[in-house]
Amino acid sequence: MKQDDPGSHALCALSAARMAPRRVMCAGPALVVWVGADDRPAVLDDRCPHGDARLSAGYVVGGRIVCPYHMWAFGPGGHADVPGGGQHGMQCMARAYRCWVSGGQVWTALEPYWPDPGAATRV
Ligand code: FES
Repeated sequence: MKQDDPGSHALCALSAARMAPRRVMCAGPALVVWVGADDRPAVLDDRCPHGDARLSAGYVVGGRIVCPYHMWAFGPGGHADVPGGGQHGMQCMARAYRCWVSGGQVWTALEPYWPDPGAATRV
Protein backbone atom coordinates (compact mmCIF):
# COMPACT_ATOMS: atom_id res chain seq x y z
CA MET A 1 0.00 0.00 0.00
CA LYS A 2 1.26 3.45 -0.82
CA GLN A 3 0.97 6.60 1.22
CA ASP A 4 -1.37 8.23 -1.25
CA ASP A 5 -3.86 5.37 -1.39
CA PRO A 6 -7.37 6.52 -0.52
CA GLY A 7 -8.20 6.12 3.13
CA SER A 8 -4.64 5.95 4.36
CA HIS A 9 -3.52 8.16 7.22
CA ALA A 10 -0.06 9.32 8.29
CA LEU A 11 0.25 8.77 12.02
CA CYS A 12 3.71 9.94 13.08
CA ALA A 13 7.37 9.80 12.17
CA LEU A 14 8.91 6.35 12.51
CA SER A 15 11.80 7.97 14.39
CA ALA A 16 9.38 9.39 16.97
CA ALA A 17 7.70 6.01 17.49
CA ARG A 18 11.11 4.43 18.02
CA MET A 19 11.75 6.72 21.00
CA ALA A 20 8.48 6.08 22.87
CA PRO A 21 4.89 4.97 22.24
CA ARG A 22 2.91 7.75 20.56
CA ARG A 23 -0.75 8.60 21.07
CA VAL A 24 -2.31 9.70 17.78
CA MET A 25 -5.87 10.76 17.04
CA CYS A 26 -6.89 9.33 13.68
CA ALA A 27 -10.29 9.57 12.06
CA GLY A 28 -12.06 8.72 15.30
CA PRO A 29 -10.15 6.28 17.46
CA ALA A 30 -7.17 7.24 19.55
CA LEU A 31 -4.30 5.03 18.50
CA VAL A 32 -0.97 4.08 19.96
CA VAL A 33 1.99 3.65 17.63
CA TRP A 34 5.25 2.02 18.65
CA VAL A 35 8.18 0.26 17.06
CA GLY A 36 8.91 -3.34 17.93
CA ALA A 37 12.17 -5.22 18.32
CA ASP A 38 12.20 -5.96 14.58
CA ASP A 39 12.06 -2.21 13.82
CA ARG A 40 8.55 -2.57 12.41
CA PRO A 41 5.78 -0.25 13.58
CA ALA A 42 2.66 -1.49 15.32
CA VAL A 43 -0.70 0.24 15.82
CA LEU A 44 -3.41 -0.56 18.37
CA ASP A 45 -6.36 1.28 19.83
CA ASP A 46 -4.95 3.38 22.66
CA ARG A 47 -7.16 1.63 25.17
CA CYS A 48 -6.25 -1.36 27.25
CA PRO A 49 -9.01 -4.00 27.02
CA HIS A 50 -8.40 -4.92 30.67
CA GLY A 51 -9.17 -1.60 32.33
CA ASP A 52 -9.26 1.24 29.78
CA ALA A 53 -5.80 2.59 30.55
CA ARG A 54 -3.97 4.42 27.81
CA LEU A 55 -1.43 2.05 26.34
CA SER A 56 0.50 5.08 25.09
CA ALA A 57 1.34 5.83 28.74
CA GLY A 58 3.10 2.48 28.89
CA TYR A 59 6.46 1.33 27.59
CA VAL A 60 7.93 -1.19 25.17
CA VAL A 61 9.71 -4.36 26.25
CA GLY A 62 10.82 -7.03 23.81
CA GLY A 63 8.74 -5.49 21.04
CA ARG A 64 5.50 -5.53 23.08
CA ILE A 65 3.75 -2.55 24.54
CA VAL A 66 3.18 -2.85 28.28
CA CYS A 67 0.13 -1.31 29.91
CA PRO A 68 1.15 0.95 32.81
CA TYR A 69 -1.64 -0.23 35.13
CA HIS A 70 -1.32 -4.00 35.48
CA MET A 71 1.52 -4.76 33.08
CA TRP A 72 -0.35 -6.72 30.45
CA ALA A 73 1.84 -6.75 27.34
CA PHE A 74 0.43 -6.56 23.83
CA GLY A 75 2.03 -7.57 20.56
CA PRO A 76 1.37 -6.04 17.13
CA GLY A 77 -1.59 -8.38 16.66
CA GLY A 78 -3.20 -7.19 19.89
CA HIS A 79 -2.79 -10.44 21.84
CA ALA A 80 -2.14 -10.00 25.55
CA ASP A 81 0.51 -11.61 27.69
CA VAL A 82 -0.80 -11.48 31.24
CA PRO A 83 1.66 -11.41 34.16
CA GLY A 84 1.53 -14.77 35.89
CA GLY A 85 0.19 -16.43 32.74
CA GLY A 86 -3.53 -15.95 33.39
CA GLN A 87 -6.20 -16.93 30.91
CA HIS A 88 -7.02 -14.47 28.21
CA GLY A 89 -9.21 -14.70 25.18
CA MET A 90 -10.51 -12.54 22.37
CA GLN A 91 -12.19 -10.20 24.85
CA CYS A 92 -8.74 -9.35 26.17
CA MET A 93 -7.29 -8.42 22.81
CA ALA A 94 -6.56 -4.86 21.84
CA ARG A 95 -7.82 -3.86 18.41
CA ALA A 96 -4.88 -3.95 16.02
CA TYR A 97 -4.46 -2.22 12.67
CA ARG A 98 -2.34 -2.91 9.65
CA CYS A 99 0.38 -0.32 9.23
CA TRP A 100 3.43 0.36 7.11
CA VAL A 101 6.25 2.86 6.67
CA SER A 102 6.54 5.23 3.74
CA GLY A 103 8.59 8.39 3.51
CA GLY A 104 9.74 7.98 7.11
CA GLN A 105 6.14 8.08 8.37
CA VAL A 106 4.00 5.35 9.89
CA TRP A 107 0.76 4.92 7.96
CA THR A 108 -2.45 3.01 8.45
CA ALA A 109 -5.67 2.51 6.55
CA LEU A 110 -7.48 1.54 9.78
CA GLU A 111 -7.86 -1.98 8.42
CA PRO A 112 -7.50 -5.00 10.69
CA TYR A 113 -3.97 -6.16 11.35
CA TRP A 114 -2.65 -9.30 9.74
CA PRO A 115 0.83 -10.68 9.98
CA ASP A 116 2.98 -10.26 6.92
CA PRO A 117 4.66 -13.41 5.58
CA GLY A 118 8.10 -12.16 6.52
CA ALA A 119 7.16 -11.70 10.15
CA ALA A 120 5.49 -14.99 10.92
CA THR A 121 6.71 -15.02 14.51
CA ARG A 122 5.06 -11.73 15.41
CA VAL A 123 1.74 -11.92 17.20
S1 FES B 1 -5.71 -1.67 32.67
FE1 FES B 1 -4.20 -2.40 31.33
S2 FES B 1 -3.48 -4.21 32.25
FE2 FES B 1 -5.07 -3.54 33.55
